[in-house]
Amino acid sequence: MKTNTILLTAGLFALATAATARAEVDFAKQIAPILEKRCVECHGAEKKKGKLRLDSRAEAFGKEDVLIAGKADESELYRRVILPADDDDIMPAEGDPLSKAEQDLLRDWINEGAKWPEELVLGGQADAPAQVAIEWPPEHKASDAEKKAVAKLNELGIAVRPIAQNSTWLTANLRVYSGEFNDELVTALGQVTGLVDLNLANTKINDAMLAKLAPLKNLMTLHLENTQVTDTGLKHLAGMEYLHYLNLYGTAITDEGLAQLKDHQRLRKLYAWQTKATAEGATKLKESNPDLSVNLGESLIVVAEKKEEEKKEGEKK
Ligand code: HEC
Repeated sequence: MKTNTILLTAGLFALATAATARAEVDFAKQIAPILEKRCVECHGAEKKKGKLRLDSRAEAFGKEDVLIAGKADESELYRRVILPADDDDIMPAEGDPLSKAEQDLLRDWINEGAKWPEELVLGGQADAPAQVAIEWPPEHKASDAEKKAVAKLNELGIAVRPIAQNSTWLTANLRVYSGEFNDELVTALGQVTGLVDLNLANTKINDAMLAKLAPLKNLMTLHLENTQVTDTGLKHLAGMEYLHYLNLYGTAITDEGLAQLKDHQRLRKLYAWQTKATAEGATKLKESNPDLSVNLGESLIVVAEKKEEEKKEGEKK
């Protein structure tokens, strides 16, 4: 009887500690999505409001007082997001204030040292096609249908621009598009075969809509991060043989999706953190494309693997 009571007490104690011990905030899973969805549109490579970028570790720490590891209360990044909703200085400068839960996550993350793995660059803007030496598709001349589609997109408020002066290659960024994202729009996009760079991050693009983009065979960079795209949708990318950069972070893709990318021999950068893809799947894909770098939030995974190894070492002894 006595032993039972002791066991029961020990069990309750274990339960109680499990409930109070909170895991450390995970940058890739919990902080990056907040910055990506609410801050980077104004504090990224394109717009640098207040001369501040929040899309990489180096940038975010590069400006005095914005982030002070271990001291949320002194970090401008946290101070700005907890201001009253009607304060002129509140961030984000537009839209609803962050939820209390999001504010608390930012606070805890900073107080725990503001850990931000170097290779996790939000939005991947640093990899625009013009900046890397890569193979371009053969010359392109816009058809009448394509010109019409561009006009239609312009009407909808979407800028489809040449990637450089006098270039026939085009770029479009719908990441912060505020109009309705519907089939009509996607159909028009699918006719603009001069597109080499397309950003659909954070949009309502889904697997069925992706089918309409299959004709975009000249695409070199494609952003699909934070969308509903799954493995099923990836098969529509099969004909995009010049694809050099693909961002799938924050989607529901798995190792099966990764395997479907093995014929994309020109692919060099694949972002798949915060998905169901695993290091095993990434390694397999690299076997058929050794020049590819797959970003799974690697340092996080490496750390986990190391711990696992240490544990095994310990068991052997
Ligand atoms: C709609 C655009 C917009 C969004 C979205 C936005 N900001 Fe800002 N931010 C600005 C502007 C404009 C300034 C410069 C004016 C000022 O300091 O208030 C600024 C300034 C700042 C500063 C001060 C920089 C310094 O050097 O002191 C911080 C910190 C900041 N923002 C953080 C954030 C965070 C964190 C988010 C997301 C939760 C965010 N911002 C979202 C427009 C924006």
